Amino acid sequence: MTTKATRAVGVDIGGTGIKGALVDLDAGELLSGRVKVATPAGAEPADVLRAVQSVLETLDVTDSDIPLGVAFPAIVKHGRTMSAANVADTWIGFEAEKFFEDGLGREIHFANDADVAGIAEARYGAARGVDGLVLLTTLGTGIGTAFLHDGVLVPNSELGHLQRANKSGDFERWAAYSAVEREQLSWSKWAKRLQEYYSHLEFLLSPDLFIVGGGVSKHADEFLPLLKLSTPIVPAVHRNNAGIIGAAALGLAHEAGVALR
Ligand code: BGC
Repeated sequence: MTTKATRAVGVDIGGTGIKGALVDLDAGELLSGRVKVATPAGAEPADVLRAVQSVLETLDVTDSDIPLGVAFPAIVKHGRTMSAANVADTWIGFEAEKFFEDGLGREIHFANDADVAGIAEARYGAARGVDGLVLLTTLGTGIGTAFLHDGVLVPNSELGHLQRANKSGDFERWAAYSAVEREQLSWSKWAKRLQEYYSHLEFLLSPDLFIVGGGVSKHADEFLPLLKLSTPIVPAVHRNNAGIIGAAALGLAHEAGVALR
């Protein structure tokens, strides 16, 4: 039987959608259905807060006894958001954790969205027990990365913003799943871009494993087999729920920089 202490709520704020669920922290599985609302246009703090509140209300988890973890698509340092690639610039240097705590009237755990997906996969998924360097990438509105070494998360790696050599712009703009939607790319055209991105990461960091998360990871069979890399590359076991599960698990992991196993 699941006890209260092994449950937490995870909310994953993305550039396009805000998703939440109640999570069993022993099993690393959703205990409720997944609730999703669109990220409000412009993604200003007050609007995002209202959207998070509505997710919690729909889940019927406004009770502050249940731990709550919130994941956000930006650099997060000491509870402040320090970048804003796909959200309003207001978030840069913003006391986001405190803002959510005040607005929701409860304590929260707060971290970068790709980092929490890394936490979920390290605890309950493809990175579990894997030694050496694991790079998890989320391919969605942006490209998020989690850098895990021997099960320890090094937070805020932001490798989606690596610049392409001799080209203007970063890999995120060109190779995130949003580029597929924006430019109507076929799987094979997109795979060529991913090939360039993962080859670059491989050259720079010599990882032992790549994990691919984000909504599109449910279609991993369409594009991962097209990639030729020396590093194994696998979809996130928890696919697009890794962010929700990892956000919920933040209370256990107690932020980044701790061994996750
Ligand atoms: C942000 C990252 C985030 C990623 C995925 C990027 O644009 O800079 O912080 O993890 O998008 O949401």
